[in-house]
Amino acid sequence: MRICVIGAGYVGLVSAACFAEMGNRVICVERDPLRVARLARGEVPIYEPGLEPMLKAHLASGQLSFTQYLAEGIALAEVVFIAVGTPSGEDGSADLSHVLAVADDLGDSLEQACIVVDKSTVPVGTGQRVAERINRRLAQRGRRFRIVVASNPEFLKEGSAVDDFMRPDRVIIGCDEAVSAEVLRQLYAPFLRNHERLLCMGLRAAEFSKYAANAFLATKISFVNEMAGLCARLDVDIEEVRRGIGSDKRIGTHFIYAGCGYGGSCFPKDVRALIRTAEQEGIEPGILRAVEARNALQKTLLFQALREHFNGHLQGRVVALWGLAFKPGTDDLREAPSLVLLDALLAAGATVQACDPVATAGVAARYAQAVASGQLRLSESPYSVVDGADTLVLVTEWKQFRQPDFARIRGLMRMPVLFDGRNIYDAKQLAALGFLYRGIGRPALGRCMVSAA
Ligand SMILES: NC(=O)c1ccc[n+]([C@@H]2O[C@H](COP(=O)([O-])OP(=O)(O)OC[C@H]3O[C@@H](n4cnc5c(N)ncnc54)[C@H](O)[C@@H]3O)[C@@H](O)[C@H]2O)c1
Repeated sequence: MRICVIGAGYVGLVSAACFAEMGNRVICVERDPLRVARLARGEVPIYEPGLEPMLKAHLASGQLSFTQYLAEGIALAEVVFIAVGTPSGEDGSADLSHVLAVADDLGDSLEQACIVVDKSTVPVGTGQRVAERINRRLAQRGRRFRIVVASNPEFLKEGSAVDDFMRPDRVIIGCDEAVSAEVLRQLYAPFLRNHERLLCMGLRAAEFSKYAANAFLATKISFVNEMAGLCARLDVDIEEVRRGIGSDKRIGTHFIYAGCGYGGSCFPKDVRALIRTAEQEGIEPGILRAVEARNALQKTLLFQALREHFNGHLQGRVVALWGLAFKPGTDDLREAPSLVLLDALLAAGATVQACDPVATAGVAARYAQAVASGQLRLSESPYSVVDGADTLVLVTEWKQFRQPDFARIRGLMRMPVLFDGRNIYDAKQLAALGFLYRGIGRPALGRCMVSAA
């Protein structure tokens, strides 16, 4: 099929490359000319495993190309995907300005009938608004054809986006018109050869499904984090409890890990948007508010624990921080827990030596002043950042942090103190190695006196 994808961000770029991989002819429209130029040279502007070889292969084969110009992208398209951002607006609702601007541009530019598919996460009713805007403009221009708008919410996860797109758990197509739904079913058929998990439903139900899915996952995380808070008081290890509850099939093992909070480009903004929708509909979103409040609190726990450990005095302390991206496998820093911790540590006068395999450039740009003054030092080497540190804090559980040489680390650190923001380490083993270990919702283990700063 001939496909146009509008927006070359995490979702648009991965979708475009994966559709090309299946033999479709894809043109990706991106409004940022610098991004277009980089992509056309085969440079991937985001970190996403497996994406670069795919991009290079399909640029070379001619199956995939990039343009800044919408008219060029849609000229021959049978299916047009909208994959632009829907960030939080000031009141927490989804800011639809990018999506609606694309709708207006499509209405002004389309010269043939096609299916327009909303892949961006949008509130219920947006597909209908997009269709109305496109078709009103087509009518004003005297065009006789009309556009059908479908919803195809995206469930890929950053860090495994290519894999998720190529082998999706499910594909949801929301479309109130049968012929267009069938075209989309055919487009997705090669991705679903091993298991038929295509779910066709109404446009509004598809739009809502995405919010409900993200809100539910965020709820699981915040629930476990609240249980972890209780565990900390009751001298219970949340890790044992996690195994205890996860073995129940009705609960399951996924998304029940206690930690220093969720971040990223989806959960925080989608929970906020759903809260706003509920308020507009006169429904009290008590659960969603609690999920959000617990997560905000969770993001502050590491700093609180550090402050307590150093008796309220962080000035002059050297804190090593492992992991900056909001989760492993991505360079995305949007709403990352690391940023809340960094802000607090820098404000308290600590020196931070932070390491991340791919996200240091984004942090350097955001904290240019602290980097220039030397208060924030960034590195891709986990060992260089622990050198001379008073404590090590694990924030993002990248694979390279899972089994480090702790004996070497103990030798490099000023004080062998470890705050494990993701509960990935064996507390007993670390205590035996001479570390003071503190996790989230776990009893502290080991001993370490606080030395003078
Ligand atoms: N990032 C994820 O993991 C993820 C997963 C599922 C769903 N989503 C949803 O998908 C949507 C896109 O998310 P993202 O993370 O890819 O966003 P992003 O910010 O990474 O990318 C959006 C891209 O669209 C471009 N753009 C904006 N307006 C444009 C226009 N008029 N014409 C051409 N390009 C335009 C921007 O320049 C940017 O490159 C959001 O609604 C998000 O909630 C994201």
